[in-house]
Amino acid sequence: MTRILGIESSCDETAAAVVADGREILSSVVASQIDIHRKFGGVVPELASREHLRQIVPVVREALAQAGMKLSDVDAIGVTQGPGLVGALLVGITYGKTLAGALGKPLVAVNHLAGHVHAVFLEAFRAGKDVKLPAVCLIVSGGHTVLYEVKSGDSNGPALGGLLRYRKIGQTRDDAAGEAYDKVAKLLGLGYPGGPILDRLAALSNGVAPPVKFGPTKTRSNPLDFSFSGLKTAVLYHVREHPEYAAEIRTREEALQRGERKFEQLLPLCSPQTLALVREFQNAVVRDLVDRTMLAAEELGVASVLVSGGVAANSQLRTTFEEREKNKGFEVFFPSRALSTDNAAMIAAAAYEKFRAGVFGDASLNADPGLILA
Ligand code: KG4
Ligand code: ZN
Repeated sequence: MTRILGIESSCDETAAAVVADGREILSSVVASQIDIHRKFGGVVPELASREHLRQIVPVVREALAQAGMKLSDVDAIGVTQGPGLVGALLVGITYGKTLAGALGKPLVAVNHLAGHVHAVFLEAFRAGKDVKLPAVCLIVSGGHTVLYEVKSGDSNGPALGGLLRYRKIGQTRDDAAGEAYDKVAKLLGLGYPGGPILDRLAALSNGVAPPVKFGPTKTRSNPLDFSFSGLKTAVLYHVREHPEYAAEIRTREEALQRGERKFEQLLPLCSPQTLALVREFQNAVVRDLVDRTMLAAEELGVASVLVSGGVAANSQLRTTFEEREKNKGFEVFFPSRALSTDNAAMIAAAAYEKFRAGVFGDASLNADPGLILA
């Protein structure tokens, strides 16, 4: 059995995990920085780096303790090389390199996006399911909205027999979908991060007609590309042009300042019109994500569709994909909600693939904030 210690620090989560043979999660610890970045309405890079420095040692210790292991029991160390915030990445990389050097264990550099793909495999292994390749993978989070074609590198072997091959087939031209959720929540006085609360509010809007209709976003030259900044601006203009929203937004902002940011506390401060607006926003995001992913899946004739990243936790996105997969000839896979958002189990799982293929990093490994997945 190969036990890999995964380390993730690309954005605002300091995470460590131990995964056996790329499929069994022995431990997974995530220290979130949401409380630190909340008052800024987004991740502040300098604060993120400082917090990673504080958290990295205790988080790795906790991951080992939960797995019942000592550092010397680890077979390899997998660490996120990029993409992400350079200062944040450097904390994990420096620590991972130091551990690997001191212990004399192999170091594996992992692309964060490959990690998100492997989060889906981890979940499938856990459910006893087989993810057939080729697949289309939608990675949709606060930092990314991108579509990949994922193929087995080893045409004779099982899905994970060789290094997977990735081909980027679509991406956002501007904001990531999660970023749009966060910005819309901020302008509506609903706090940070925006995704989870907008998801729940949208589900509670019943019967009231949307106060505005958002059409499909422009596809530009590639129909598999996304664009969310126009949608965010449309919400902003709608709210500005209708003064009746101002009072309730102010009331919610005051509640947030008093620390009342729970769903149950904010829901009574939302008018039916606001709930309908949120629903219309979410309908537009989900429709766009699902339509383009389905188009890619049909065009490429894949066996599976994988959906990963923080926004993959969205309940409407999940149910819409499930409804739309019927009679399509491919299966849609999601990670659990815990594996959808940033974590280190997915990094350890992705590292195992490279470990088996003998692809290792060395002391020269550096952070690559714009690392491409190919
Ligand atoms: O993957 P993640 O933890 O971090 C990165 O951005 O890499 O994703 C966080 C993003 C945030 O933008 C958050 O608002 C969004 O995922 N998110 C959601 C939901 N839960 C988290 N968006 C929509 N619906 C949700 N249920
Ligand atoms: Zn991520």
